[in-house]
Amino acid sequence: MKIVLATRNRHKVDEIRQILKIYLDGDLYSQIEILDLDNFPAVPEIEEDGKTFVENALKKAKTVYEFTGLCSIADDSGIEVDFLNGEPGIYSARYAGENATDEGNNRKLLKLLEGVPIEKRTATFRCALAYVDGNIEKVFEGATKGKVIFEPRGMGGFGYDPLFVPDGYELTYAEMPKDLKNRISHRSKALQKFAEFLRTYLESKNKF
Ligand code: IMP
Repeated sequence: MKIVLATRNRHKVDEIRQILKIYLDGDLYSQIEILDLDNFPAVPEIEEDGKTFVENALKKAKTVYEFTGLCSIADDSGIEVDFLNGEPGIYSARYAGENATDEGNNRKLLKLLEGVPIEKRTATFRCALAYVDGNIEKVFEGATKGKVIFEPRGMGGFGYDPLFVPDGYELTYAEMPKDLKNRISHRSKALQKFAEFLRTYLESKNKF
């Protein structure tokens, strides 16, 4: 079974591959071949004009399914900061402008939180993972709560990782070993649900 990851974000592609390896045991993992958009350069940029993570994830997965004819999964994700009424949310990737860098986004977030004490810096990372295969359309969601600290810490990960300390931990996502982030993250929780679905689906297919 071939599955296309509907993203050009290298960090997400790498994480999704690593996380699926955790949740699909060796036998099931060997039944799937994971492709990404590098294998399909003709797929156009997909405008993320939905109002929710779910809408955006479904749009990306449907578009890639239509172009490739292969089942596809898409991740739409971001961070919601309570003090900012849920911003940047679906605008996380382009918070500091159309061509924003991770550093620019982090600087903007820190600026808007200047002077805000740690107990009011609560935030939630959310991930909507859409799976589209012809008539089958499913969305799996994951969320991880934590706090936005005062300055970036750590070299790993991407995006807002250096600013986010998940509840119950002292390290930012960027300071943690990859494997730990991949077990507790918003993306991990969504992919765990997807993996359960895929296991049942493949097992029922194998029966016939
Ligand atoms: P998307 O491609 O529209 O889903 O953009 C997601 C954006 O949210 C990324 O560019 C990051 O800024 C942020 N984001 C999503 N997931 C993560 C994560 O695991 N760590 C850090 N930032 C993330």
